[in-house]
Amino acid sequence: MSISPLLSGNVARNCHPVGCQAYVQQQVDYINSLPKLQTIKNVLIIGGSSGFGLASRVALTQSCHSNSLSVSMERGPSEKGMGSAGWYNNVFAKQQAEALGLRSDNIIADAFSLETMQSTVDYFKANYAGKIDLVIYSLASGKRIDGEQTWFSCLKTAEQTMHGYSLNLETDSLTPDQVGPASQDELEATAKVMGGEPWLQWIEVLANADLLNSGCKTLAFSYIGPELTAPIYRDGSIGFAKQNLHLHAGLINTKFRDLSIQAMPCVAKALVTKASVFIPVMSPYIAALYDVMKHKELHEETIQQAYRLLSEHLFPKSGEAQLDDEGCLRIDDWELREDVQAQVNKQLDGLSPENFKQRLDYQGYKQSFLQLNGFGFEHIDYSSELDSQWLAQLRP
Ligand code: NAI
Ligand code: NA
Repeated sequence: MSISPLLSGNVARNCHPVGCQAYVQQQVDYINSLPKLQTIKNVLIIGGSSGFGLASRVALTQSCHSNSLSVSMERGPSEKGMGSAGWYNNVFAKQQAEALGLRSDNIIADAFSLETMQSTVDYFKANYAGKIDLVIYSLASGKRIDGEQTWFSCLKTAEQTMHGYSLNLETDSLTPDQVGPASQDELEATAKVMGGEPWLQWIEVLANADLLNSGCKTLAFSYIGPELTAPIYRDGSIGFAKQNLHLHAGLINTKFRDLSIQAMPCVAKALVTKASVFIPVMSPYIAALYDVMKHKELHEETIQQAYRLLSEHLFPKSGEAQLDDEGCLRIDDWELREDVQAQVNKQLDGLSPENFKQRLDYQGYKQSFLQLNGFGFEHIDYSSELDSQWLAQLRP
């Protein structure tokens, strides 16, 4: 059996295991081309199978010699198909860590459930030496189930309908799109899913089990972005949830002062991930940003962001984490540079379905998306048969 990419809209319906291995390997190689960083013994990553969580895990493993326990929700291969890219990312991230003699495990379970939090504690106690030094919270989800209740997050504005365009990866086109306002209930539900309440719950469960080292750091990924995307992001339902996330950093810091826990939102740059391609009218901005930042040699993917986060912001040589006035780590600093934003605005001004391939780095945007699912690697022969014996022995 050979596999080629299947897209419906901006959803990848399949993935390529050999390509997922290449995707992880590419991240490992990048980190190994850079100076090693200080040792961070044990890390817990909630959402470590893709995007920012995976990149952080690879950077910590390779550069900080960290043992890593990751919790994620992914599908393995079955009669129904190959499973999800994140499942293979888990497999190869673990292999890469074990090759260095490190402990690395994947818990595949719902990170919003208290039972998962408790079983993660039990698993850590049974299998790891010492306590946890860093907790990374990197979930992106459309829903959260908590006991009897289910909340759904939405991607809408707060008040006005926003008109714009979205990129369609299936048809390689730019199409008019619009997003309307969220109701108060929708705003609150989005904050339940993408806000900070489960982050705080995780820290409570871990602290109650006495698993957090004094001085343990914890960060959650966030986004702010420019004026241009404010109606759909910063001021919209997802921005409302991010405010809730930032609020919870403060709550964690206050509640666990005695343990010297340091909680920080980490504001990252906009880039292509499984989650971000869903945000309506946001994709032209991201693809313009790719173009501008590549031309200025400032372009970063998740792995470049993860290394810069660790080396310059979270564990700089000076010792203390580098935070802004609001207590956030800011790895969106290059995206928000004035010259970058001015050029992005210029390229988006007058954007149309006819000129978008000249104005945006559509090719690069799509390539990044394909690679998230193990496609689009030049050195892989996608027409060749998958080795079923190799596949059958993969373990997350
Ligand atoms: P992603 O989709 O690549 O990763 C999401 C992770 O969450 C995966 O590991 C997935 O398995 C896990 N997950 C989702 N639901 C789960 C559940 N119920 N139980 C266990 N695991 C679950 O997304 P991405 O983009 O890396 O997002 C992570 C965070 O980074 C989000 O908070 C997002 O808002 C933030 N961020 C993303 C930016 C972007 O441009 N992509 C920019 C700045 C911040
Ligand atoms: Na992630």
